[in-house]
Amino acid sequence: MKMWAGRLSGDVDEGLNRLNQSIGFDSRMFEEDIQGSMAHATMLGVVGVLEEEESRKIVEGLEQILQDRKEGRLAIDPQGEDIHMFVEQVLTSRLGDLGKKLHTGRSRNDQVALDVRLYLANQEEELIELVEALCACLCDLAQEHLTTVMPGYTHLQRAQPITLGHQLMAYVQMLLRDRERLQQTRERTRLSPLGSGALAGTTYPLDRQLVAEKLGLAGVTENSLDGVSDRDFVLELSADLSILMMHLSRMAEEIILWFSSEFRFMALSDRFSTGSSIMPQKKNPDIAELIRGKTARVYGHHMTLLTMMKALPLAYNKDMQEDKEAIFDIVDTVKLCLSVLPPMWNSATFYPENMRAAAAGGFINATDCADYLVKKGLPFRDAYKITGQLVALCIEKGLTLETLPLSEYQALSPLFDDGVYQAIDLLSCVSLRKVYGGPAAEAVAKQIENARRKLV
Ligand code: ARG
Repeated sequence: MKMWAGRLSGDVDEGLNRLNQSIGFDSRMFEEDIQGSMAHATMLGVVGVLEEEESRKIVEGLEQILQDRKEGRLAIDPQGEDIHMFVEQVLTSRLGDLGKKLHTGRSRNDQVALDVRLYLANQEEELIELVEALCACLCDLAQEHLTTVMPGYTHLQRAQPITLGHQLMAYVQMLLRDRERLQQTRERTRLSPLGSGALAGTTYPLDRQLVAEKLGLAGVTENSLDGVSDRDFVLELSADLSILMMHLSRMAEEIILWFSSEFRFMALSDRFSTGSSIMPQKKNPDIAELIRGKTARVYGHHMTLLTMMKALPLAYNKDMQEDKEAIFDIVDTVKLCLSVLPPMWNSATFYPENMRAAAAGGFINATDCADYLVKKGLPFRDAYKITGQLVALCIEKGLTLETLPLSEYQALSPLFDDGVYQAIDLLSCVSLRKVYGGPAAEAVAKQIENARRKLV
């Protein structure tokens, strides 16, 4: 018999049951559901809707249910409708009529909104910690590679010299923004909708603020219709995590590229690589590929959530039950991806000599060569043209700007002397770029320092 038997009678269709049930996935909010109920029952006692004794017994009963579940004495009934009904049923089976008083002044509509908020606020805390751990790992790695010269790319063509440290710190900036977004989303999530009732509030003199305080929340929602029908906090989290996955996917793509024989800037450890069932020589970056692939899955859920909410009339509609599987899977997926990245980075081997060779072979110091002539008094356009001719000459002779003899330089411009080799030295090209935010070791050290300061 359903809890809502009364208006309806008889058994419902089996198909309806299967469609209607959410206990298979909302049972992960078991603890939050009980915490919310305990705060509600306590408040009902304080404001006198329940007698103090009744309120105390309900709270104790709920605590016992929580304990029994933790200690493996209470199994969740997979035939139940949802976690809210399940807890209330267990309570009522234990306390009799008193258990039926818990739901006074409350609806499952404000109850579920509260549970999801509590659950996601906890998850957000864990996500923030994982983002911070990845930032810390990348800062440490960047510190080790302040002078590891590599080519910086535009259009995936070698462009100008940077360092591995500089490149890694670019990811830290993205992750610091992700962290800030999660923190802000968490603040908007930490509000209590209880008291909104089904949609129109309640006639009981509830103390909504007290419930929020008991739950450690920042405040209460302002409008009962909005309180039960708002899922912005779910969407904000899925948007934040979609952006975060976009960052991880770009990082994964670079790991895949750098690990390829064509680049060979790094190698993943065997612990983070997979083999092929047919090609004995293969060592594959599957983990990075999966992170890239799982980004699609997160975007898909984000689109599900947006589409689910689109055009829903106020207030609660059952469509909104669909929010849970989507956001839960997003959270699980992102946590998994975030947690494998630090050990994967930390166990990787880097090949600075390959990075440097790629930098030299890419003529990425050509701008610096032109600047050298400009400093000697030549207009930039002329310097640009001469340098272009030098690059063409190097390509023809299979040389780099570092290995081209001085006589060849001087044949194109008498302004060259052997100071040019210092000017085009890759590391000195990098160290001259000490503008705030630039790749010079001291500028990257500053970025690391600033990031670490934010992380404490
Ligand atoms: N399982 C439901 C959900 O997740 C709980 C709220 C049900 N409310 C209702 N009016 N049927 O949305």
